[in-house]
Amino acid sequence: MSVKLKHIVSIEDISTEDILGLIDRAIAFKRGVKMNVGAQTFVANMFFENSTRTQYSFEVAEKKIGCEVVNFNAQASSVQKGETLYDTVLTFSSLGIDIAVIRHPEDKYYQELIDSKTLKCSFINGGDGSGQHPSQCLLDMVTIKEEFGHFKGLKVAIVGDLSHSRVARSNMELLNRLGAEVYFSGPLEWYNPTEFNKYGTYLPIDDLVEKVDVMMMLRVQHERHGDETSFSKSVYHKQYGLTVERYEKMKYHSIVMHPAPVNRDVEIDGELVEALRSRIAAQMENGVFTRMAMLEAVINYRSENLIQA
Ligand code: CP
Repeated sequence: MSVKLKHIVSIEDISTEDILGLIDRAIAFKRGVKMNVGAQTFVANMFFENSTRTQYSFEVAEKKIGCEVVNFNAQASSVQKGETLYDTVLTFSSLGIDIAVIRHPEDKYYQELIDSKTLKCSFINGGDGSGQHPSQCLLDMVTIKEEFGHFKGLKVAIVGDLSHSRVARSNMELLNRLGAEVYFSGPLEWYNPTEFNKYGTYLPIDDLVEKVDVMMMLRVQHERHGDETSFSKSVYHKQYGLTVERYEKMKYHSIVMHPAPVNRDVEIDGELVEALRSRIAAQMENGVFTRMAMLEAVINYRSENLIQA
């Protein structure tokens, strides 16, 4: 059965059956299955926060399935004259945009958009503040499924700047739901036990390197920190980073992941980014196929429910 979703804004809102359907469809696209939307479908990429991977892999995915792509440039738009997010999206909805892919620094920015009775577009969340990053989460699951063929019983460590990370927030919930054993590590000031202990167990990184199947490193999100005068890259790398010494202790079949952009020699030794067990480039490649599957699911819903912009 094909997946049909009106919006994709949070991993928690998507059923496990639909998640598994999206993962399998992404893998099918990677293996060469073709899809073309047929009817004219306009997609706007609206990034109010910087992006390389998410924005441009959505654009590639949209073009691969035959969508008409509109790239919104917030810096050169009427946002600079004070236009709100809602009024900007209302404009795009009025122009006939079918799907808006939006990244915005505010947590849950999408709620007022999906609650609106006026807006006719579907929404795909390209990342909201420290909230959710559903396309990154799904491409991470595609990468894990490709590697291991399953999730149940896999030991996955999520390491680093946990409290500021929408990647951690999306992945811990889904990995837990899919039956993986989740572990956390990193600075304790970025670890909120009340939130994270529901999904996994905190351990020092040196206790995890020999134990886990997947070592998922997180970017230190300086843009979400306040005063950082005490932050030292070399101290962070030594205490919490994936050094060559730690990498060499990992299990032979284990893999290293990172959503990127990578701060080389901070979260991970620069020479490990393209190491044998690194899947960082594979994650970026899988992003295109995953986003094709997400777009297709939204197009399926709109087509079945006869929704037109
Ligand atoms: N991983 C990720 O979201 O990268 P970008 O910020 O470049 O989109």
